[in-house]
Amino acid sequence: PAESAAITEEIRELLKQEDAVLVAHYYTDPAIQALAEATGGCVADSLEMARFGHDHKASTLIVAGVRFMGETAKILSPEKRILMPTLEATCSLDIGCPVDEFSAFCDQHPDRTVVVYANTSAAVKARADWVVTSSIALDVVNHLKANGEKLIWAPDKHLGSYIERETGADMILWDSACIVHDEFKAKALEDLKKVHPDAAVLVHPESPESVVKLADAVGSTSQLIKAAQTLPNDTFIVATDKAIFYKMQQAAPGKTLIEAPTAGNGATCRSCAHCPWMGMNGLKNIRDVLKNGDQEVLIEESLRQQAVISLQRMLTFNK
Ligand code: 13P
Ligand code: SF4
Repeated sequence: PAESAAITEEIRELLKQEDAVLVAHYYTDPAIQALAEATGGCVADSLEMARFGHDHKASTLIVAGVRFMGETAKILSPEKRILMPTLEATCSLDIGCPVDEFSAFCDQHPDRTVVVYANTSAAVKARADWVVTSSIALDVVNHLKANGEKLIWAPDKHLGSYIERETGADMILWDSACIVHDEFKAKALEDLKKVHPDAAVLVHPESPESVVKLADAVGSTSQLIKAAQTLPNDTFIVATDKAIFYKMQQAAPGKTLIEAPTAGNGATCRSCAHCPWMGMNGLKNIRDVLKNGDQEVLIEESLRQQAVISLQRMLTFNK
């Protein structure tokens, strides 16, 4: 604790010196989230991170999250210096959607509007007509469906099938998944519900359909925090990255938060409800990147100009 207090102090000073602000995702270490809050930065879902970083006057953004979040910030704010605690922090959805294969897939369906999740590379965003995050996906797809558009959706198959079920849109889905949410188990969740019959179940839509079906509320990270704040239950079983408990508990003080089970029958889990790439962000590498300025997100300008179109569509979208 004494060491982290010293690093925190160092970071506060460096943020001022470097005209920098910390933009953190709910899945990062609570110490990072607390520091972002205490220094005028933000802790948010991926949509609000993009908005906040774009609107903030600081010339440097420290994006604590995963690669696509840093890239989104750079695409939207090319004049800003975008640093990440580590550029190695990727996402299984980004890895699962290489641009060449994806582009060839889109070429096979030229009549379809291409909608991609924000959890993708800049190149995939550049190939898309729309980028969405889970906060805004249903609204955008409802709008496109009302226009009579047929869609390609990538990369998350669970989120895609959830959107398909909710909106009834005509969608062809790319086959990829989030390694964290894919591991939540419906059978074990049913058993846990029996132990806590009055608990409400909160589920991120990157989870499998069988888990989503057991939910009392389905939504993005910010929507799940809101649900914990507004639902009357005293206990919540939460199927998303457990680092969200830091803000969820603040939003719902006195309520009991329980992790949804990631593996039944004693089987081992790979991620155990915490994203390994989010976990690469720490106070030390935030301090180091502020000092060294390495780990800077750079995007080739012609690619950026293409990718910004689909991203801006999301940011300016009104229901
Ligand atoms: P949110 O947009 O809901 O914050 O989700 C981002 C993410 O990576 C979920 O796994
Ligand atoms: Fe990607 Fe899943 Fe990690 Fe979110 S939790 S960054 S979707 S691997």
